[in-house]
Amino acid sequence: THIDWDAEAAEKGGYDTYMLKEIYEQPQALTNTLIGRLHDETGEVNLDISLDPASFKRISIVACGTAYYASLVGEYLIEQLARIPVEVDVASEYRYRSPLVNENTLVIVVSQSGETIDTLEALKEAKKYGAKTLGVINAKGSSMTREVDDVLYIHAGPEIGVASTKAYTSMVSAMLLLALWLGRARGSLNAEKGAELLAAVRELPRLVEEALAPERVENITRIAEKYHQARDYLFLGRGVNAPTAFEGALKLKEISYIHAEAYASGEMKHGPIALIDEHLPVVVVATDSFLLEKTISNIQEVRARSGKVIAVVSDGDTEAARHADDVIFVPRADEMVSPVVNAVAMQLLAYHTATALNRDVDKPRNLAKSVTVE
Ligand code: AGP
Repeated sequence: THIDWDAEAAEKGGYDTYMLKEIYEQPQALTNTLIGRLHDETGEVNLDISLDPASFKRISIVACGTAYYASLVGEYLIEQLARIPVEVDVASEYRYRSPLVNENTLVIVVSQSGETIDTLEALKEAKKYGAKTLGVINAKGSSMTREVDDVLYIHAGPEIGVASTKAYTSMVSAMLLLALWLGRARGSLNAEKGAELLAAVRELPRLVEEALAPERVENITRIAEKYHQARDYLFLGRGVNAPTAFEGALKLKEISYIHAEAYASGEMKHGPIALIDEHLPVVVVATDSFLLEKTISNIQEVRARSGKVIAVVSDGDTEAARHADDVIFVPRADEMVSPVVNAVAMQLLAYHTATALNRDVDKPRNLAKSVTVE
């Protein structure tokens, strides 16, 4: 009815869709994820977690979909900063594979809804073996929050759009907090490096705000429209930004229905390079990194086969930009925190591609917001 429509429009706060509203809510969502948790003087984070960070030998992270990609970023960060072995599983696999966990394992479940059945059942499975458990969760009081020993709420606020946006960037930020907490508590991260990373994390809401500046969105919209007829897309990224490529492909698939594949850049020559021709747009995450030169070589390899490169590049990096057909400049960020900033470019590219194709982005076909059946 008319009244419902008005109510819905009001809930979208002037945006055409929930998804767009949630994309723009990210600076606030990130502020809420970080608030009260960063202590500049000591370079430490306070997470109100009662688990003893020195009491486990390995970490297993279990999640589905977008939360799984946030977990992959977590794996990279925790291994780098806290030097603890981490493995990441999709929950639907983990729950049926008699996982090797015991009381020396910390099992982390990551979930926006806290209700995803596969993740919930995987958690119950891990508990049977005596694992310690932590939830990185958005929805307060959800089923998973009642099953875990401790919760690290991401505080992203309600997410209505089926395609996850702000929950993803808040989850990745929560992973940064966890990695810093573990690294400091276990002595693998010194105070100086801790303080430096903490300062980079603190910048995230501002950097994401900047990533959403109108001229940047216009540029991405132009690129999205240029390639919206493509049948397939390839996404490449490496290191801490390999999951950025995976998440970019998932977002595009979910809301535009364009077939998209994603690989760690170094894997390209092991197969996916065969896909490249003049019809294939290839999104390459080429932001500041100690491996940027290798990424630039990948870009050249794609171009040499007539692929169309859309490079995501740090502001001011003319060298990386020079090799691409189209460039999405993003605010310069410390590599460790860059997945949060780069994700925004992926979301906007998917969103504006879907819009150019007239898709219903809030209710993509065949998908549900939370998957509570197997
Ligand atoms: C993301 O865009 C998805 N729609 C989906 O992959 C989602 O992330 C997944 O189902 C997990 O949901 P959860 O975070 O609520 O557990």
